[in-house]
Amino acid sequence: MCGIIGITSNKPVSSAIINSLKKLEYRGYDSAGIATLSDGFINEVKSEGRVENLEKNTNIKNMIGHVGIGHVRWATHGIPNTINAHPHSSESVSVVHNGIIENSTTLKKYLVSKGHKFKSQTDTEVIVHLITELQKEKNDFKNSILKMLNQLEGSFALAIIFNDQPDLIVGARRGSPLAVGYGPNENYLGSDSYSLKSMTNKISYLNDGEFCIVKRNQIEFFDVNGIKLNKKILKLSSNEQNYDKGDYKHFMAKEIDEQPITIQNCIREYIDNINNDINFYNFPWKMNDISSVILIGCGTAYHSCLVAKHWIEELTSLDVSIDIASEFRYRKNRFKKDNLYIFVSQSGETADTYAALDLCNKNNMKTASIVNVIESSIARDSNFVLPIHCGPEIGVASTKAFLGQMLVLYILILKISYLKKDINKNLYIEKIKSLKELPKLVEKTILTENKIQSISGTFTEAKGSMFLGRGLSYSIALEGALKLKELSYIHAEGYPAGEMKHGPLALIEDGMPVVVLAPRDDYYKKTISNMQEVIARGAKVLLITNKSKEEVVSENIWEKIEVENTSYDLMPFLLTIPLQKLAYYSALKKGYDIDKPRNLAKSVTVE
Ligand code: M6R
Repeated sequence: MCGIIGITSNKPVSSAIINSLKKLEYRGYDSAGIATLSDGFINEVKSEGRVENLEKNTNIKNMIGHVGIGHVRWATHGIPNTINAHPHSSESVSVVHNGIIENSTTLKKYLVSKGHKFKSQTDTEVIVHLITELQKEKNDFKNSILKMLNQLEGSFALAIIFNDQPDLIVGARRGSPLAVGYGPNENYLGSDSYSLKSMTNKISYLNDGEFCIVKRNQIEFFDVNGIKLNKKILKLSSNEQNYDKGDYKHFMAKEIDEQPITIQNCIREYIDNINNDINFYNFPWKMNDISSVILIGCGTAYHSCLVAKHWIEELTSLDVSIDIASEFRYRKNRFKKDNLYIFVSQSGETADTYAALDLCNKNNMKTASIVNVIESSIARDSNFVLPIHCGPEIGVASTKAFLGQMLVLYILILKISYLKKDINKNLYIEKIKSLKELPKLVEKTILTENKIQSISGTFTEAKGSMFLGRGLSYSIALEGALKLKELSYIHAEGYPAGEMKHGPLALIEDGMPVVVLAPRDDYYKKTISNMQEVIARGAKVLLITNKSKEEVVSENIWEKIEVENTSYDLMPFLLTIPLQKLAYYSALKKGYDIDKPRNLAKSVTVE
């Protein structure tokens, strides 16, 4: 993970670097640091914790350099403290790094044998000493960069400044993302375009293996062999106001409440209201060329794949499998030419998901991605991209992106099902009509759900909790458990309700909170029986079902929440809402940092 920034300008750069680092905090917030260059001297300031700690450091105001680099860290090698914070510098060079240098131990041994002394426990510091060592060889500047890059194994995005190059930053990318920005009398490097957006809307992206030399009035790009490249400059659309919390205390609360609007926007993008049809412009393949779909993602994105698997089985004749990206990338996969691989990722930068995509591309497979960040690496490197149109998601816990991912998957599946004649026109139109009702139903569910705040108290006091469901609701149970554990650090397990008797029932003890998801679908009666089994063993059950005239026939339910009514297919959208709120209020009660939970980051760019 980690976020990096670099600015070369005709004026002091430290405050602009700090501002950009604040935008990069979603990538890591264990520590932060900055280095600038003035009069041939590299000055470095680093702090543990948030960028606001760095900003308060009194040494920052003495940084008057016109060239500088900055970093926010998500620790991989070495504990999160000031010494391990980036930049790492010698007298002649300073480096910020996002990624992992896999051969750092071997390189360190070699460099120590050459007399280099290491200060930190990080893998990154080897780059500093490696460059310093190569500088002794008096190579031409570009060649020494190439030589250094060729010795590194692993993944990285780098920004490097040199004491004898007063106007210059070197950027390099292998595996981790890196954007270059063009400004008036200044140029930039950043882990993403978002961090550069307040300074420029003109961006280029480095591809894997490429590096660049960024000067105040010139940017040069090179490929893996040092051959000069021409780069396309892309113009970004600006939508800064979306990054604001408004009247909300936390981005997460805002992002939950935004969901009726974000799914409405997404529906508007894909659904032709007049003809009640779904439009996917430029879908690059013929339906007959696809017989199997493989859905791949991590965390919450993986849960959306799990939901989609059910839809594909229900609505199409396609074969389907799903995979966690970190597993897929190292398995012996059967690549077949009629497979369609779909990669789901909010950030579009998740290292494991990107590696899985890269593997499929290298095997000439059909690849599509469902992303939120359309300028991301995953979007750029897949054959076909379907954006979820939900605007920036800042809270580390994914909420509106989850609904967006499910929505785009559902729309895609519906269209495929219709084109393959797996459903007839009437059913297709009926399902599109129900879909158009969804924003209103999500809004009602958000507005009418007001019990959760008080219910959350029981969860915050518990040792652990369980989330149970069957069918589509099982996928949502997993998502509910993930949300609760990542935000409130309460142990939570999602389980198929029918599987409890095969082991996990032993965990149930008096007073343990258990969430049971039982909408009135074909699984309803079975799930209610499983619910009785946990109640009988002392569980405090929060039942989440949908509104119905029929009372739930069951005794001793602790609490019940009824979401709005919709079709079986669309119920996951509504069941998710109370679970998002449960996680939010539990973390709020515990006083935790809701938008930046411990040990996590929004964009996971290490494997
Ligand atoms: O950006 P991505 O969708 O690829 O991220 C995948 C996961 O890291 C992410 O969904 C993570 O599980 C969230 N923190 C869950 O809320």
